[in-house]
Order: sequence, then structure tokens, then C-alpha cells
Amino acid sequence: MPEWLPLPDIDDLPDPGSYGIAMELPDRTVEIILLRKGGHLFAYCNRCPHTGVNLEWQPHRFLDLTNRYIQCATHGALFRVEDGYCLKGPCAGQSLSSIPLRIESGKVFVEI
Ligand code: FES
Repeated sequence: MPEWLPLPDIDDLPDPGSYGIAMELPDRTVEIILLRKGGHLFAYCNRCPHTGVNLEWQPHRFLDLTNRYIQCATHGALFRVEDGYCLKGPCAGQSLSSIPLRIESGKVFVEI
């Protein structure tokens, strides 16, 4: 059954910016991409729909050089930050798995 879990403090996450988080649960590890763009936060599973690999170039680096799109480091697929939709690349038309989030008293929670 899904539950709301708090994320580490992300006050220093730039806008635009990205951060990778591995959440250790009793039965598995959930890898999350957290992004800030235009004053909004977005969260996705860190798994490319093309082959299932993690997306980042380097630790916490998920955005392309323009900081406009999420880019998969393996084959370069480009995803919209706002909804995770793949605009270009081998998985065009597919989407990253969105993770619901909410903010309470300045703390970010994700539903996992
Ligand atoms: S693994 Fe991401 S585009 Fe191929």
C-alpha cells in the first residue's frame, strides 16, 4: 500500500535543477528524480522507458545542457520536465513514471 515519505531537505535545489535520491525501503530501493523548474517541483522514477537504466549523466545531473529537458545519458532521449513525456529519442511518445508529491510545512513528501 502506497505511503507518503519525506524527502531530504532540498532548499539548495536550483531552479532549474535536478537531484537524485535513493530511498531505502524495507523491501527495495526506490530511485527518484526530483526537479525544480519555474518554481514548481516534479518527481519521477529514475528509470528510462527505453531500457530501464538510470538517466543521469553524473550524480544529480538529469537536465540537458539547456536545462530545459531531462536527458537520458545512455541514448540521449529528451523528456519534458513538466510531465515526463519523451519528445525525442528511441522512446519518443513514452513517459517517465511520475511520482505524486506534496509539500507540508516546507517539507517535500513523495507517495511510494
Ligand atoms: S536508455 Fe534512455 S534513451 Fe536509451
